[in-house]
Amino acid sequence: SMTWTEVGALTQEMKETEVLIRGRVQTIRPVGKNMAFLVVREKGFTVQCLATAQSDGVSRQMVKFVAGLNRESIVDVIGVVSIPDNPIKGATQQEVEIRVCKLYCVNKATPTLPINIEDAARSDAEIEIALQSGVQLPRVNQDTRLNYRVLDIRTPANQGIFRIQCEVSTIFRQFLLSENFVEIHTPKLIAGSSEGGSAVFKLDYKGQPACLAQSPQLHKQMSICGDFGRVFEIGPVFRAEDSYTHRHLCEFTGLDVEMEIKKHYSEVMDIVDRLFVTMFDSLNERCRKELEAVGKQYPFEPLQYKPKTLRLTFEEGVQMLKDSGVEVDPLGDLNTEAERKLGQLVLEKYGTEFYILHRYPLAVRPFYTMPCYDDPLYSNSFDVFIRGEEIISGAQRVHVPDYLAERAQACGIDVNTISTYIDSFRYGAPPHGGFGVGLERVVMLFCALGNIRKTSLFPRDPQRIAP
Ligand code: 4AD
Repeated sequence: SMTWTEVGALTQEMKETEVLIRGRVQTIRPVGKNMAFLVVREKGFTVQCLATAQSDGVSRQMVKFVAGLNRESIVDVIGVVSIPDNPIKGATQQEVEIRVCKLYCVNKATPTLPINIEDAARSDAEIEIALQSGVQLPRVNQDTRLNYRVLDIRTPANQGIFRIQCEVSTIFRQFLLSENFVEIHTPKLIAGSSEGGSAVFKLDYKGQPACLAQSPQLHKQMSICGDFGRVFEIGPVFRAEDSYTHRHLCEFTGLDVEMEIKKHYSEVMDIVDRLFVTMFDSLNERCRKELEAVGKQYPFEPLQYKPKTLRLTFEEGVQMLKDSGVEVDPLGDLNTEAERKLGQLVLEKYGTEFYILHRYPLAVRPFYTMPCYDDPLYSNSFDVFIRGEEIISGAQRVHVPDYLAERAQACGIDVNTISTYIDSFRYGAPPHGGFGVGLERVVMLFCALGNIRKTSLFPRDPQRIAP
């Protein structure tokens, strides 16, 4: 009849009360035959438990049983909360201790583990410091982590990362619902490529050529033709990427938005601005513990952003680069290096690591992008950056069917494969625009994690499709 207490919820106020917890055995340290310390972990939070014979009704046999437990086994512990003389403090290490009265092993883990969670949870700095005093601590490399992801996910930092990721999609949904957007679900099996280019997974659809959707682009626009006015989607996106980089996955989670535009594509950028400022504020407020846990293993500086997001035109960006001695093609795309450099320049000049770059050259944008009315060399489009790396691209779309077909053809797309999309605009289509965000990139860059594999639960990259 006892109620469960979560390890993360244990506090010093519970001193002298009896609690029931369920968690995993992280480490066991026997001290002689009468005592054993064990660290129990639940959802990334740990608490030290102490089993002592001849007190608390615990037998020697019981201490032996505890000392013989396999790491990562699931245990139920009934014990009394106490405050140790020298509490070990940490982001996820509880300041209280539990004096064990009863302990049950619910399910046993195998005796040899490919990864010890303590090892996987250590920061590079800790390993360095130990090394300076002659102790070589094991380092778990990225591939081992990903091969045994179910173990790796148990570290406090990873527990934090995926709870932060959950918060990003929650805020995305909550904010857009409050702005009268409708959540939709578009097909992932489609007849023709949605973004063009070669990064498409082709497949056989009952004898017809088909592919996995590279984005919900076509169907979110068709939903606008279907009178929803404003839509969004959270769903998988497939890209047959060839290059193995720190920021490209073959499957990621797309946060997509599409909306009618009354006058100007800045209406879309206004949504981006308010959505992301709300999101960053909420993350800092509601995910404090998670951010601390991530920072403990992977130290990072909090993101610098402004209440009103900076907007620069592509031409202004090119000029800033030029002024600092970096020459780029004014009608080409920015490479990763130039984007990083511009990120630094923007931070120095405007004090923000989050900004929008708009009015891109038309030639570097997808076929469905609306050219600028005053200068067709440019387009009503934008990219959004965090710490000098792209997280969003967006634009106003061409809503005139014949012109859309012409643009598709000019971009080398077989118009027949997207004819139902183009025809959707023949029955009356409002001016509209939208954007797409990569969920994994947002979390990676908010926490400056440096590798998108860290923010994908089970990443798919050009070399990995398991586990
Ligand atoms: O820039 P992308 O390709 O744009 C689109 O898909 C458009 N349909 C969006 C729109 O509405 N106009 O992808 C959008 C975002 C990128 O900014 C990036 O954050 C992420 O998706 N992304 C990737 N994330 C992980 N791995 C990849 N291979 C990615 N490719 C794009």
